[in-house]
Amino acid sequence: MPGLVVRMLEDLELEDDHSVLEIGTGTGYSTALMCHRLGAERVTSIEVDPEVAARAADVLQSCQYAPALVVGDGLAGYPGRAPYDRLIATCGIRTIPAEWIDQVRPGGLILATITGWLHGSGLALLTVAGDGTARGRFLPGCGGFMPARAHAAPALGRLSQWISDGAAERVASIGPEILDDWMGRFVAQLAVPGVST
Ligand SMILES: C[S@@+](CC[C@H](N)C(=O)[O-])C[C@H]1O[C@@H](n2cnc3c(N)ncnc32)[C@H](O)[C@@H]1O
Repeated sequence: MPGLVVRMLEDLELEDDHSVLEIGTGTGYSTALMCHRLGAERVTSIEVDPEVAARAADVLQSCQYAPALVVGDGLAGYPGRAPYDRLIATCGIRTIPAEWIDQVRPGGLILATITGWLHGSGLALLTVAGDGTARGRFLPGCGGFMPARAHAAPALGRLSQWISDGAAERVASIGPEILDDWMGRFVAQLAVPGVST
């Protein structure tokens, strides 16, 4: 994971005067790197798990970094310190929340791993337009994070239950080996976002 975090920070094209919103404080590692690069006063980080957030706060304090740390659901962003120049999500998401687009200034960047219930992931870099939209592309390479809480897959349930619920068997035109390939898995996931493994 540290390799992916460092790569994402490079892709974020941070400049000295940028303010950043991070979703998923986790250990505080990426938060610390951004504090070092920008100064802690320009960094806001949100963590949904209060115990994880408390541990990260201790670690960051021991490194003498004092960013704005928020405990809550990062899918809603943090309007209190918006607008941000950059938003980085170090948890996987299925869709980009509209709140993130609203809270990043026009021309600012959003960098997030798009993931899903087939556990495929792609790194999306978007530029915010200022009209409620953002456009961008998937960057080369692979790697992903645990899904954001509200975007995690629901429990699969039992096969016997599906059959008694009337699920039909049919022949598939593409074999399951497509899921062995990272790109194949990601594209399959985009095609059938409601399917999980
Ligand atoms: C891969 S870790 C983050 C890595 C972190 N940036 C680091 O350097 O350690 C993902 C984190 O996202 C948090 N998370 C999951 N869903 C979230 C949400 N909806 N809002 C904020 N944080 C969330 C998890 O609790 C976890 O700590």
